[in-house]
Amino acid sequence: MTPSAPLTVLGLESSCDETAAAVVRLGGGDCAEILSNVVFSQIAAHAPYGGVVPEIAARAHVEVIDEVARRALAEASVGTSDLDAIAATAGPGLVGGVMVGLAFGKAMALALDLPLIAVNHLEGHAVSARLARPIPYPFLLLLVSGGHCQLLDVAGVGASKRLGSTIDDAAGEAFDKIGATLGLGYPAGPALERLAEGGDPGRFELPRSLLGRAGCDFSFSGLKTAAARLAAGMSAETDRRDLAAAVQAEIVRQLVDRTDRAVTVYAAAHGGADRRLVVAGGVAANRAVRSGLSELAGRQGFSFDSPPLELCTDNAAMIALAGAERLALGLTDPLDVPARPRWPLDEAAARLRPTHLAGRKGAKA
Ligand code: KG4
Ligand code: ZN
Repeated sequence: MTPSAPLTVLGLESSCDETAAAVVRLGGGDCAEILSNVVFSQIAAHAPYGGVVPEIAARAHVEVIDEVARRALAEASVGTSDLDAIAATAGPGLVGGVMVGLAFGKAMALALDLPLIAVNHLEGHAVSARLARPIPYPFLLLLVSGGHCQLLDVAGVGASKRLGSTIDDAAGEAFDKIGATLGLGYPAGPALERLAEGGDPGRFELPRSLLGRAGCDFSFSGLKTAAARLAAGMSAETDRRDLAAAVQAEIVRQLVDRTDRAVTVYAAAHGGADRRLVVAGGVAANRAVRSGLSELAGRQGFSFDSPPLELCTDNAAMIALAGAERLALGLTDPLDVPARPRWPLDEAAARLRPTHLAGRKGAKA
């Protein structure tokens, strides 16, 4: 994947509530180099509504994307003539926002006569750990964020096989919705982690979803409903702490249990080689999640990697790297490439076994 000459790529990310731009250089070292990584968070604009409002998000992206991109170039001390390509998230995500970043990227590519790379946001998360350490392909990936929860056998660029996926909510969604009923604002994941510190995870009994069930799929909706019921009307600090600890422990238990099964499937496909586990996505910022998976990896003889905390949540450095890896293989996209609100990484698996049936949400992950 290391190109013969270094490639410098501007990445753009606007699929949810972060407007981000970054410059990454691939080649010339073991690892890609992040020259700049600018993230403008819209959290304050959405906080009063307790979640991301798509229309507000799209407008906020329009207002700042040019300034965010300008800052990314300035902080990298890079001029537009130093760029080899523009990489922009083309989905999956909130389509109004995706269109803003993608249209901006197309305009830059056209004006500067540069190649455009339409990046799948999930592929960005998949390569994010490679921004910090030279992790070779293939690896087993647990991608766990606010919108996604899946296990993937990542063989290389554009070659991921889905081993399991959530059949209802994503883990981050469970953290956010349960956290909201505990009055923790939005997004509630980091606040719930802090509240859980020192709590007793054994005091409240929560449903142990999919315990002992075959396969590598996830389910968090039962946990969400049960925890929300317990949280309603709860005011004592010790009660809230103990419930937060129980919720976090149950989410970690399920992530570890399902990943353990995927380890077996992955190991059967790869033999004794390439025993690498990577966790990425916003929920990978959670220390209990990281330590549960790191312990599992150790037990199974796998190495364990996770991006640094600031690269777990949405950013454009991961989009720039995914774009640079594609560019190194000559994979670019035409200027009429569409924005895709739903765009599974493993399209064949998503068609065969849709996790969200058409008519409800489509094949989300
Ligand atoms: O990857 P990301 O920024 O956006 C998506 O692509 O979804 O992930 C955001 C999600 C939110 O649900 C947020 O609550 C969760 O990641 N999150 C955490 C933590 N930090 C972020 N969840 C649990 N513990 C954390 N420390
Ligand atoms: Zn994301």
